[in-house]
Amino acid sequence: MTIQAATSVCIIGSGPAGLLMSQLLANAGIENIVIDRKGRAYIEARVRAGILEQGTVSAMREAGVADRLDVEGIPHHGLDLAFEGASHHIDIVGLTGKTVVAYGQTEVTKDLFVKRTQQGGRFYFDVENVVLSGLKSDRPAVNFRHAGQDVEISCDYIAGCDGFHGVSRNAIPANVLKTYDRVYPFGWLGILTERPPVSMECVYTNHPRGFSLCSMRSATRSRYYIQCDSNDDVANWSDDRFWDEFAARISPDLAAKLQTGPSFEKSIAPLRSFVAEPMRYGNLFLAGDAAHIVPPTGAKGLNLAVADIRILVRGLVERYARGNTHHIDTYSQKVLARVWKVERFSWQLSNLMHQFPDHSPFEKKMQRAEFDYLMQSEAASRTIAENYVGLPLD
Ligand code: FAD
Ligand code: DHB
Repeated sequence: MTIQAATSVCIIGSGPAGLLMSQLLANAGIENIVIDRKGRAYIEARVRAGILEQGTVSAMREAGVADRLDVEGIPHHGLDLAFEGASHHIDIVGLTGKTVVAYGQTEVTKDLFVKRTQQGGRFYFDVENVVLSGLKSDRPAVNFRHAGQDVEISCDYIAGCDGFHGVSRNAIPANVLKTYDRVYPFGWLGILTERPPVSMECVYTNHPRGFSLCSMRSATRSRYYIQCDSNDDVANWSDDRFWDEFAARISPDLAAKLQTGPSFEKSIAPLRSFVAEPMRYGNLFLAGDAAHIVPPTGAKGLNLAVADIRILVRGLVERYARGNTHHIDTYSQKVLARVWKVERFSWQLSNLMHQFPDHSPFEKKMQRAEFDYLMQSEAASRTIAENYVGLPLD
C-alpha cells in the first residue's frame, strides 16, 4: 500500500536551499513538505560554507531565523589576497558600503531546522528511491520509500534542492538538459580547530607550494584550507603534516601568530565549475547545487543557492497570492543570468589564486601580471569587492 500525501510544493533536499525555501514559503502561507535522503543530525554536522553575503543575511532575517546570526555572526570589512610574498588588502566596506559575515553553514541549517520544526514543518528524512513524475502535468508527484513504506506526495510544484548528487536534475529529459562543466586539477583540504584565527578576516594566498586560505568561525575557532591533489586522501594528512604545510604557505607574519592544535574536522573537497540549463522543466524548479557548482574560492556556493531561492519564492508567492505566473515563467532565464556572473567570478578568482600543475611559463606570467594590476588598480579591487559582497538579485 502506498501512503498518499498532498501539498502545494514538494521540496527535495533539506540543505540550506531546501530549508530556507520551506521557511519562506511557510511565512507566505504556502504549504510544503521537505524530504531528504539523510537525517537531520547528519545534515547539521556537514561542515562547508562560512561566509554569508549581506543578501543571504537579509534572507535569513526575512525568514525570521537571524536572531543568533545577528549576535554571533562576525562581520568582515575586508579581505586579503597574497601572491608570492606580496599582499593586497581589499577594503570591501570602503569600496561597496557592504560587509560579509562569518557564520557557518552548520549554524544556518541548525537555525532553519529549529524554526521549521517549532512551526510543525512537515519533513521526511532518510528517504530512499526518490522518483519524480508528471513534471509536465498540473499535479506532479514525488514517490519514495520511507520507514519501510512507499509514499507518494502529489503537489503543484517540485523544488529540486537536492544538491549536486541529487536526482532532480536528471529528471529533466537528456534532450532538454544541457550541462557545462570544468573540473580543476586540485582539491581543498580543510580543517577546523579550536584555536583563535591568525586573522579576523579571510586571507587567500597563492604560494609556490599551492593555495592556502585562513578563515574562521569565531574568535576561538579557525577554519583553514590548503590546495591538495584532487586524488589525495585525508588519511595521508596527519594534523602535524597539515600544520607544517599550512605554515609554509602563509606569510611569515601570520605564521608567527599561528596557534596549532588538534583538528576536529578534516575533509577534502574537489573543485568544480558546473551549470545545468534550464533550471525549470514543467513544474520542476532546480535551485542551489542541484543546478550549479562553483569552486569555493570567493565563498559563493551557499550564497548562490540562497539567491536562487529568493527569486523562486518571490515567483511562487506571486503565483499563489495573485495568480501571476510571470515570475516563475521567467525564473530559469533570470536566475541563470546571475548564476553565470557568479560562475565567472569564482572561476576567475580560482584561476588567480591557485598553482596549476599544467600552467605554461606564459600562463604563470599572466597570473602574476593580473595580481600586479590588482595591487595598482582601485577599479580592479572594486570589481572583486563588488562580487565578493554579492551581486544584486535583479
Ligand atoms: P546541499 O547543501 O548539497 O543540500 C542538498 C540536500 O539534498 C542534502 O541534504 C542531501 O542529503 C539531499 N539529497 C541529495 N540527494 C537526494 C535525494 N535523492 N533525495 C532527497 N534528498 C537528497 N558556499 C558559500 O557560499 N560560502 C562558503 O564559504 C563556502 N565554502 C565551502 C567550502 C567547502 C569545503 C565546500 C564543500 C562548499 C562550500 N560552499 C560555500 C558551498 C556550499 O556549501 C554549497 O553551495 C551549499 O551547501 C549548497 O546548498 P544546497 O542546499 O543547494 O545543497
Ligand atoms: C570559507 C570558505 C570559502 O570557500 C571561502 O572563500 C572563504 C571562507 C570558510 O569556510 O570559512
